Amino acid sequence: MAMPLILGLVGCDAKDNSDNKTSNANPTSTSNTRSNVNEDSNVLSNSNVTSNSNPTSNSNEVKPASNTNTPSNSNKETPVSTTKTNVVGKTTKGYDIEKIDGIYYVKGILIANKSYALPSTYAPGGLKSEFTIAYNEMKKAAKKDGVTLSVVSGYRSYNTQKTLYNNYVKRDGKAAADTYSARAGHSEHQTGLAADLNKISDSFGETKAGKWLANNCYKYGFILRYPKGKQKITGYVYEPWHFRYIGDEAVNLYNNGNWITLEEYLGIDSKY
Ligand code: DAL
Ligand code: ZN
Repeated sequence: MAMPLILGLVGCDAKDNSDNKTSNANPTSTSNTRSNVNEDSNVLSNSNVTSNSNPTSNSNEVKPASNTNTPSNSNKETPVSTTKTNVVGKTTKGYDIEKIDGIYYVKGILIANKSYALPSTYAPGGLKSEFTIAYNEMKKAAKKDGVTLSVVSGYRSYNTQKTLYNNYVKRDGKAAADTYSARAGHSEHQTGLAADLNKISDSFGETKAGKWLANNCYKYGFILRYPKGKQKITGYVYEPWHFRYIGDEAVNLYNNGNWITLEEYLGIDSKY
């Protein structure tokens, strides 16, 4: 797929708790291949990049947002309340769709895609603790296998996503931008439960780290959110770098290495 060039630094939104002190994701590439193009190469001119790597603590670890809105029992993103009054519909797989504080959940999994928007006011302010705890475990395990993981883009606020998306629209047009960048309110990066790891490039999926992640992330509750060949279902092209924390259900999406999408698993759409 022909795609345009990168315009700026790959960046992390303020407070994304990135463990990545120096971005390694093609900041200056001028290649016009698809592999260098995505919303996560930060085309924000005022990119609001803040490194939160904590110099006084173990720099291998990603810290959660301090104001993270996490249920106390969570190693999983269970909504605070699951009373039937929150049910607003059913998925094609027969699961309840719950809406709690303006946020949609299915099987306790928070949904952010083209069909299910987040409130503009939803702002955990950084990666949530369920993400960071699991990520730090995964990072340790990866290290043992000779793979170094880093977050290159973690939490992004509604407004950051808005600017990012609008810049892509200016650059590539709306139809193209919609294949790789979420509109404001529709990005998993706003949830604090997703991040782009290591390298934002199609070829990342063929690297040792990309393969390790695709084959092992589910053990830590992560999913490869936009698998290859699933654009019609997820609404987005292949993103071998984008991982979403969903908790225990991840193994079911891993599907013995034949990744299925969250949309297929839950029976939901992803369409504007
Ligand atoms: N690249 C994904 C779809 C996002 O913008 O959240
Ligand atoms: Zn991403």
